[in-house]
Amino acid sequence: MATKVSGIRLARRLDEVGFSDIVQIRNKVMELRAAGHKVHSLHGGEPYFETPDAIKYAAVKALTDNQTHYAPSSGIAPLRKALVEKLAAKNKILATTDEVIVTVGGSQGLYAAFQSVLDPGDDALVFSPYWTPIGDLVTGTQARPLLVPTITARRNGLRKTLEQFSTPKARAIYYNTPQNPSGVVFTRADAEEVARFAIERDLIVIADEAYEDLVYDGEHLSIASLPGMAERTITCFTFSKTYAMTGWRAGYAVAKEPFMTALRKIVLYSTNGVATPVQYAMLQALTTPESEIAARREEYRKRRDLLIAGLNEVGLECEPPAGAFYAFPSAEKIHKQSRTAAQILLEKVHIATIPGVVFGAQGEGHLRFGYAISIQEIEDCVEALRRFFT
Ligand SMILES: Cc1ncc(COP(=O)(O)O)c(C=O)c1O
Repeated sequence: MATKVSGIRLARRLDEVGFSDIVQIRNKVMELRAAGHKVHSLHGGEPYFETPDAIKYAAVKALTDNQTHYAPSSGIAPLRKALVEKLAAKNKILATTDEVIVTVGGSQGLYAAFQSVLDPGDDALVFSPYWTPIGDLVTGTQARPLLVPTITARRNGLRKTLEQFSTPKARAIYYNTPQNPSGVVFTRADAEEVARFAIERDLIVIADEAYEDLVYDGEHLSIASLPGMAERTITCFTFSKTYAMTGWRAGYAVAKEPFMTALRKIVLYSTNGVATPVQYAMLQALTTPESEIAARREEYRKRRDLLIAGLNEVGLECEPPAGAFYAFPSAEKIHKQSRTAAQILLEKVHIATIPGVVFGAQGEGHLRFGYAISIQEIEDCVEALRRFFT
């Protein structure tokens, strides 16, 4: 008699979707702390600052004003209007209020973007090393990520390298600048090459500009602002990093049709929008003067310079990252394999980092150090590294 196969099983599209190793590292750090050890925490991606008070008060006011009801699924009208103004002024992306959608963090925007454009069997070009969840967002659609080595691409030309790694099934390019984990900021010339390739091959670009306000060297350029790109780009933003609002889950996306209809459907049937008081906090956040954003950027720059000097001093070679708040030095001096290198640093000197291989094969041999921490913590970490290497 044939055995009956149980009907209780998960949808196959989740088979290839993983859980982040970063969570496991966080758990190990908590274990060490619980055992009474001081851990140098450079594994995180949380901003150093707290959410500014004015933003918190705007949420409190929204609550006491009973802004606690359903809002339009795509976002409250004044917020979408303010986002349109911000996009025009800062990103040179010209959009109407119907072309922006408020999302639950940048994450929901990215999830909705990949779900909107990828079919099973499609390929998506992803510059690597890449922010880990992107691989899972792509495989979650039953498409395949095609990893394009960023370093090679910048050395040999982005267009040429994209051509080399592309397939006839490629439908989209994930374009993240500034990049997590490497801190790379693509230049205008880089963006123009990617744009030319996307137009030639008729590809969709999913742009991730989570760190747009954290550029220390060079400029931030939104690829959707280049000629011919607005109609083929879905750009995802977040309030998490600029306004130190990670826990609020506040983000937005801008795109033209047909993408916007798809994004609206996915937001409607997943969360039916963002919590109403959070949207009022977002509206307040958008009134933050550029000078305050610049002042916070300068604080991060100081931390970057201090950490990079320390890493190079002990022989963990690292170019200064142009953006975001991560350093991505070579780990070779500790161990060739980044998982082992990270384990050694954590166990021997209690420095928590993320192994580069977590961000794709092209990240192997590196460690990610997050420097959105206090100056004192960076100095303590560098001191611990000096002790380790002497
Ligand atoms: C490259 C990149 N994109 C998007 C996000 C999404 O952030 P959130 O969902 O908090 O808005 C992050 C967060 O770390 C990130 O590093």
